[in-house]
Parts: sequence; structure tokens; C-alpha cells
Amino acid sequence: MTGYRRVVVGTDGSETASAAVREAADLAGVFGAELVVVTAFQADPAVTDAREQAPEEIRWRITEVGAAEEHAEEARRLAHEAGAKKVRVRAESGDPADVLITVAEDTGADCIVVGSRGMGSASRFLLGSVPNRVSHHAPCDVLIVHTV
Ligand SMILES: Nc1ncnc2c1ncn2[C@@H]1O[C@H](COP(=O)(O)OP(=O)(O)OP(=O)(O)O)[C@@H](O)[C@H]1O
Ligand SMILES: [Mg+2]
Repeated sequence: MTGYRRVVVGTDGSETASAAVREAADLAGVFGAELVVVTAFQADPAVTDAREQAPEEIRWRITEVGAAEEHAEEARRLAHEAGAKKVRVRAESGDPADVLITVAEDTGADCIVVGSRGMGSASRFLLGSVPNRVSHHAPCDVLIVHTV
């Protein structure tokens, strides 16, 4: 074992997910691994309609894919700051846990990093649904960063 070669990290742009991004970037930096930042988004028909009616220049702003790409780009900046040398970003439509697992498979990642939970979790005893599902189905190691 010579350490990780490719690390996938998930973020929805939240403060807690950003902590996971920094940790993943730190890990990738130590091993000289590539970091793949992934933001999953849901395609919403209501937003798609609004998008079609908006002026060309601002169209990208009102799509969830636009927001997801912004989160991913912001995470790229954080990741470089935290020491990752080689960073790729992806915004993909779908359920976050499914997307993270698929990207890990597609890219041959050897580690997936996620935060333990975000603002959505009421109980301190529960993981968020993303780390819970990723930990059960991942094709590789999983690092669950303790986020409060
Ligand atoms: N849209 C997303 N795309 C990629 N990764 C995500 C996304 N949402 C969450 N994650 C990852 O999962 C971690 C935990 O978030 P999760 O959404 O599971 O917790 P939560 O918001 O507390 O729970 P829930 O959403 O079930 O209420 C985040 O820190 C992040 O690493
Ligand atoms: Mg959530």
C-alpha cells in the first residue's frame, strides 16, 4: 500500500461539506493523489421551465446545474488552498450517494470522502443519508469526516 492515488469528495457547498473537502484535499496533497470534487444536483422541471424563459446571459445561473458547478468550483479553490495539487470537478445529476459511487467506479478512485452530516440532521446520533449509503455500497475505502 503506497497510499491513495485518486480521492473522490462530495460537496453540496455547505459549511460542513467544505470541511470534508479541506480534509480530502489535505489527504490528497499528502499522497500526491488526484482529487475529484463531485456535486450532485437534482433536475427539477419547474426550474427547467424558468430557465427556458430567462435571457441567455443569465440562464446558467438559475439552473441547479449552475449552482452545483459553482459549489464544485468553490470547492476547487478550497482544495488548492488545502494542499491538493491535481483537482478535477464534476457536477452530476442524480442522488448524491449514487453519483459519488458511480464517479468513484468510473474514475477508479481508491477513497471516497464525505462529511458525517450537515444542517439537515436533527440528531447527533445519526449520520447524514449520504455517508450512510456511501459506506454501505462504496467500491473502495470511505473516510467519513466528523462534521458538526
Ligand atoms: N449534493 C451533494 N453532492 C455531493 N455530496 C454531497 C451532497 N450532499 C451531501 N453530500 C456529502 O454528504 C455529506 C453529508 O451530507 P448529508 O446530506 O448526508 O447530511 P445531512 O444534510 O445532515 O442529511 P440529510 O440530507 O439526509 O438530511 C456532506 O458533507 C457531503 O460530503
Ligand atoms: Mg443533506
